Amino acid sequence: MTDPRMRAFRDRVGGLAYGGDYNPEQWDPGVWREDVRLMREAGVNLVSLGVFAWASLEPEPGEYEFGWLDEVMDLLHENGIAVNLATPTAAPPAWLTHRHPEVLPVMADGERFGFGNRLHYDPSSPIYREHAANITRRLAERYSFHPALAMWHISNEYGPTAYNEAASAGFRRWLRRRYGDLETLNEVWTTRFWGQVYTDWDQVEAPAVPRTWMNPSRILDFKRFTSDALLECFVAERDIVRSFRDDIPIVTNFMRFYRHADYWRWAPEEDAAALDIYPDPADPDAHVSSAFQFDLFRSLKGGRPWLLMEQAASAVSQWRLNVVKEPGRMRLGSLQAVSRGADSVMFFQWRAGRGGHERFHSAMLPHSGPGSRTFREVAALGREAGLLAPVAGTTTRAEVAVLFDWNNWWGLEELWGLPRNDFSYVDTVMRHYRPLWEHHYAVDVVSTRSDLSPYKVLVVPNAYLVDDEGAAAVTEFARSGGTVVMSFFSGVVDACNRVRPDGYPGAFRRLIGAKIDEYWPARPGERFTVDFADGHTATADWWREDIHLETGTALATYADGLLKGRAAVVANEFGAGRVVYFATLLEQDAFDRVLIGELRTAGVENRFDGLPAHLECTVREDERHEYLFLLNHDAEASVAVPVEGDGTDLLTGLPASGEVTVPPLGAAVVRRARRA
Ligand code: GLA
Repeated sequence: MTDPRMRAFRDRVGGLAYGGDYNPEQWDPGVWREDVRLMREAGVNLVSLGVFAWASLEPEPGEYEFGWLDEVMDLLHENGIAVNLATPTAAPPAWLTHRHPEVLPVMADGERFGFGNRLHYDPSSPIYREHAANITRRLAERYSFHPALAMWHISNEYGPTAYNEAASAGFRRWLRRRYGDLETLNEVWTTRFWGQVYTDWDQVEAPAVPRTWMNPSRILDFKRFTSDALLECFVAERDIVRSFRDDIPIVTNFMRFYRHADYWRWAPEEDAAALDIYPDPADPDAHVSSAFQFDLFRSLKGGRPWLLMEQAASAVSQWRLNVVKEPGRMRLGSLQAVSRGADSVMFFQWRAGRGGHERFHSAMLPHSGPGSRTFREVAALGREAGLLAPVAGTTTRAEVAVLFDWNNWWGLEELWGLPRNDFSYVDTVMRHYRPLWEHHYAVDVVSTRSDLSPYKVLVVPNAYLVDDEGAAAVTEFARSGGTVVMSFFSGVVDACNRVRPDGYPGAFRRLIGAKIDEYWPARPGERFTVDFADGHTATADWWREDIHLETGTALATYADGLLKGRAAVVANEFGAGRVVYFATLLEQDAFDRVLIGELRTAGVENRFDGLPAHLECTVREDERHEYLFLLNHDAEASVAVPVEGDGTDLLTGLPASGEVTVPPLGAAVVRRARRA
């Protein structure tokens, strides 16, 4: 993997990056020196600077104040702290939206988003784009060669959806590029239905009011357009900073399970995928969904290390109840990110704010100062981040992949009109991922455009919307010897959200070896009994399919109800591979048993079989070493883990061979020579 910019960045920070968002513009200069002293004490080697500082950098149109930033950049550099310099374009200043209210996004209900939060811009607004380009250029002119600069952080958490005039105009341009002429648009959007035929491009608008029962193909394209419009903003700023200097990595920070931007399309445009993640400390299972996110972020750029750009040192302030991260949890969550491929541990934010909406959001340096529990934990973790430097740049190998697709997410959740309208794609994906996590399988997350050749098993949760190329990729994977595990309501519609012809599941009928006559969502409270051919019995609910086997065979059939005797789980030998299709929502234990059984049959490597689920085990490696991460999520019991060969625990420096004991909420990172 050649990523010279990221390699240079790793060398620059000396391994893992450690630090957080730094907002000196909110503090008197007298505080800055103390900040930098304490940053050094905490092992900070990188700060994200200026994220929302537009109003401080350009207080009036065309009037710039860079003095404070010069001073801060110099101070950080003198103290050996590198800068991830942000373009401040997520927070347009009041003068801009006051002069040009059309910059403010109009929401789906027709209301204009007022000033006073952030992300208050329509990504299609030419005025916004012009001003954003201008401040970006000014920053790049001034700081591209500042010795503190190590990375560019473009804007922040790209997200707004806007229904302004400019969005409609942008949408029309986007559609013309995609479909060429109106005839094609009318065809792919099925506009003869309810007489929605367009005869002039000017009639095509962003789909704001009415909000329900809209044309599903139009909504789908508007989701795609919005993601692309935001991406255009990113690319425009990226290209400006790149035109000044080519060797500095450029990233933006993505969000956890964010539905409105297709990160598969974004990731190739940046040097590293970067994630902001705020698992709720009150959720005892939050680390499982974090694990999926971390695997996704590692996978977004084909397995390259990614950046944990923001997390909380303790509590957040965005929920009704914001509980603390109990002692040890912040460390464990941070090591978990590193164990799954992160080359950084960063926080929002360095110093807790006194005012503003996030005044109670925890920080590396809390209101209670350096004597606080949080600061002690932050400083201790900073030391450990230093000890883990050898891990930076290493990668992970997986033989199982889970398909995760934004178009399908939109198809399942953005619209009504499906046989049932309470699909949660994320919950479904997590239902498939959880058993893989509990059994310690290394998992990559893939799109239908990913290279599937490294995998033995491909897990396909509810792939309702799949385009022809995607369907062909999944089919080819099985044909050439892979195992596909697929769940119900897959392969139903094409890229334009139109039902595929010749019966369900259009794209996958041959693959699963069965035809579905009708989808039978369950009535509230309805449960079914399912008998497996191997003698097991399980319950199922939520969904059934009136399925008719063609080449497939029944792994399980319904034991009751009107579909009694019909297949509930189908197996089909296909080409050199195999497909297992779940036509109902099985109780989790039964689903896990079948899924894990298929992984074993497919010969997927598992070095941690038999270890307790709460001991998270992962491996990163390079040509010479492997790094075994053992993370104990249980707050009470230690776990003894057999370890082959001679290793060293990087966190303690002690030899680790024979057996390693991982204390409650504790961790070990064992380095040893790579097995042949
Ligand atoms: C996001 C933002 C930060 C901060 C945190 C904490 O990730 O990027 O600016 O608001 O959330 O809520």
